[in-house]
Amino acid sequence: MPPKVVIVCSGKGGVGKSLITANIAYRLRDMGFKAGIVDCDPTNPSLPNLIGISGMHETTLERLKPVEFKGLKVVSMGLLAGGKPLCLDGLQITSFLNDLADYVDWDVDYLVADLSAGISDEYKAMVKTFADGLLGSVIVMQPAHKVEAERVIRLHLDNGIPIIGLIENMSYLKVGKGQWKIFGESSVDELAAKYNVEVLGKIPLSMDVRKAVELNSGYLEGEYAEPIIKAVNKILTLKPQKPGFLARVKAKAREFVEALLVEMITSINKEIDIKGLQSQFGYPGGRVIRLNVMSDDMERVVVQADFKIQDGKLLVVENPSRVDTVIEISTKAFAWAVLGDRVLADGSIYDLETAWYLGEARVFGTGDSIRAVHFFKNVWTQLRNNQKAIEKLRPLLERLA
Ligand SMILES: Nc1ncnc2c1ncn2[C@@H]1O[C@H](COP(=O)(O)OP(=O)(O)OP(=O)(O)O)[C@@H](O)[C@H]1O
Ligand SMILES: [Mg+2]
Repeated sequence: MPPKVVIVCSGKGGVGKSLITANIAYRLRDMGFKAGIVDCDPTNPSLPNLIGISGMHETTLERLKPVEFKGLKVVSMGLLAGGKPLCLDGLQITSFLNDLADYVDWDVDYLVADLSAGISDEYKAMVKTFADGLLGSVIVMQPAHKVEAERVIRLHLDNGIPIIGLIENMSYLKVGKGQWKIFGESSVDELAAKYNVEVLGKIPLSMDVRKAVELNSGYLEGEYAEPIIKAVNKILTLKPQKPGFLARVKAKAREFVEALLVEMITSINKEIDIKGLQSQFGYPGGRVIRLNVMSDDMERVVVQADFKIQDGKLLVVENPSRVDTVIEISTKAFAWAVLGDRVLADGSIYDLETAWYLGEARVFGTGDSIRAVHFFKNVWTQLRNNQKAIEKLRPLLERLA
């Protein structure tokens, strides 16, 4: 069984993600579950320091062993590299995070992932790695950073990542019985109502929290732990999303690209003089071309469409008995190639042929392929130069680019 995964994230750094991550894991442990923490900030891993972990990872040939800390299993780049400064690039970060599922000996029921601020490569890698067990995310916010919190909430909603709830940390400064709104008005209730998500609670900025960090590995108690307990109680009721986040993102992307293709084919037939282009470029047509719009890593087909040029029209062919040319192009490259907004270092405009040269498109077939690519490059160029067509297509394409 893959671990059930809860992601803790925020739009801004330093708002208490690591503290809240640790506390969700502590509470799950207290309830008798096997719990772990994965620190997903490979370049600035601060969690081990915050809660005072001093061990280092042991690695065997096949496995990386989490460090055991207060009954939790913890993995952090900080426990691998020690205090060495880290300067990993995006590819290294992604491959480290991708390894976590296969290479780490987890054996936990729940894994709480402490993310670096914002939604970036780390986020995507985490979601991909633990897609099967993903329960959702706890978003940590702070009154001074409402805009960033709202952006993260919207990114979640747009990408189909379930939001377990919002915690406003450092909600106000608490000294004795006094409360001061030093970061401004609380905005968690307003955002929660606007986006229909749950408020798990507010934690004040307080010396009590500081003391918990210094004396007790950040373990929060009393009123400070209320939002955590609420989060954990909800987590226990959740089941991993089926068919999983990635599948839903795929489905979403597929629907979107399909709609775009329909719009493109309609526009081409309505606005473009295909016969004229055929004679200009000596393209006879009649052969079946398969267009595979691929994921950006070129590993997965997002949408497949077969068509041919016949009688001056672009026709979709259902279940063709043979395919003469296959054009595979990444979603991004597809959008760039139609939009023509990307200018290369030599001043030329990125198009279908450029995508092919750069390996962002692949072309293969039984002949006529180069001519087909050349022809379609010109169809797309005409499309983008046609005011009416591009007005409709641009908003769709810009979402993919
Ligand atoms: N409510 C609070 N009261 C007092 N101190 C707090 C509170 N919440 C967090 N802190 C302290 O603020 C600092 C930042 O918290 P933490 O490291 O959890 O934030 P983070 O969001 O994980 O930061 P980063 O983005 O750098 O990873 C820590 O020293 C932590 O002990
Ligand atoms: Mg942190």
